[in-house]
Amino acid sequence: MSNWIYDEYKHCGVDYSSVGNADNYDNRHTAFRDYKKEFYDMLEFLGLKDIGKLSMIDLGCGTGASTIIAAEHFKHVYGVDVSDAMLLQAKNKVCNKTKNNIEFIKAGFLTYEHKDEPVDLLITKAAFHHLPDFWKQIALLRMNKMIKAGGSLYIFDIVFHFNPCEYKEKISEWISDFEKNAGAELRKEVEIHIRDEYSTFGWILDGMLERAGFSIKKCRSGDEFITEYHCIKEKEVGFLF
Ligand SMILES: C[S@@+](CC[C@H](N)C(=O)[O-])C[C@H]1O[C@@H](n2cnc3c(N)ncnc32)[C@H](O)[C@@H]1O
Repeated sequence: MSNWIYDEYKHCGVDYSSVGNADNYDNRHTAFRDYKKEFYDMLEFLGLKDIGKLSMIDLGCGTGASTIIAAEHFKHVYGVDVSDAMLLQAKNKVCNKTKNNIEFIKAGFLTYEHKDEPVDLLITKAAFHHLPDFWKQIALLRMNKMIKAGGSLYIFDIVFHFNPCEYKEKISEWISDFEKNAGAELRKEVEIHIRDEYSTFGWILDGMLERAGFSIKKCRSGDEFITEYHCIKEKEVGFLF
C-alpha cells in the first residue's frame, strides 16, 4: 500500500477499536437512541418499495444497530466496519437467529471491496465523519461502485448547516442541548467529535455527492447538525477500486 494512503484503521477521536468502548456502546447509545424507531423512520424517509427483494450495505455498522434490524426485512445485508471489537458485538447479536442473510466484514470506506452484485441501498450512520474531506470524496466514489444504477445512498451524520461566522455560539448551544438529552458522558463524546473528528459543511458534502455521480433526492436536518441524505446513483464514475 502507498505510504500516502489514509489509514482508516487508526481511529480518530473516539476509539472504537477499544473493547471497553465497544462493550458499553449499546448501553450508552440506547440511553438516547431507539434503534428500531430510527430504522423505521429511515425506511419512511427513503420510501423504498418491496424491500424483501433488496440488498443493503451498512458501512460503519458498529454494533449492528441498523444491520440486525435490516436483516429481518431485506433480502441480504452486509455489515462493514473497521473495528473488530464493534463487529464482535454485532455478531453476538445474530448468533441465535436462524436467518443467514447477514454478513459482517472487517473493512472500511477506503478498503471494502464489494465482490457481489452492486446493492440497492448503501447506508452509513454516524460513521462518515471519521474520514477527512479529501478521503470522504474518495469514499463516495467507491460507494458509487457498490450501488446499482438508480440505487440509493443514505447518509446519517453530523453535518454543519449554520453560518460559519456563528460557529462558536452554534456549537456551544448544540453541545449543551445534547447534554440535556443524552447526559454528561455523551457530552464528552460530542466535544471529541467536534474537536478531533471530521464533520463537514453541508455545501461541501453536497458538492462531493454530485462529483461522485449522486443526486440529492432529500436532505433533512432539524437542528442544523444531525442530517439525513437520500441520494440516488445517477451515473457511473470513471473510477477503479
Ligand atoms: C458512532 S459509531 C456508529 C455505529 C453504527 N452505525 C450506529 O449507528 O450505531 C461509528 C462507527 O464507525 C466505524 N468507523 C470508523 N472509521 C471507519 C471507516 N473508515 N470505515 C468504516 N467504519 C468506520 C467505527 O469503528 C464505529 O463502529
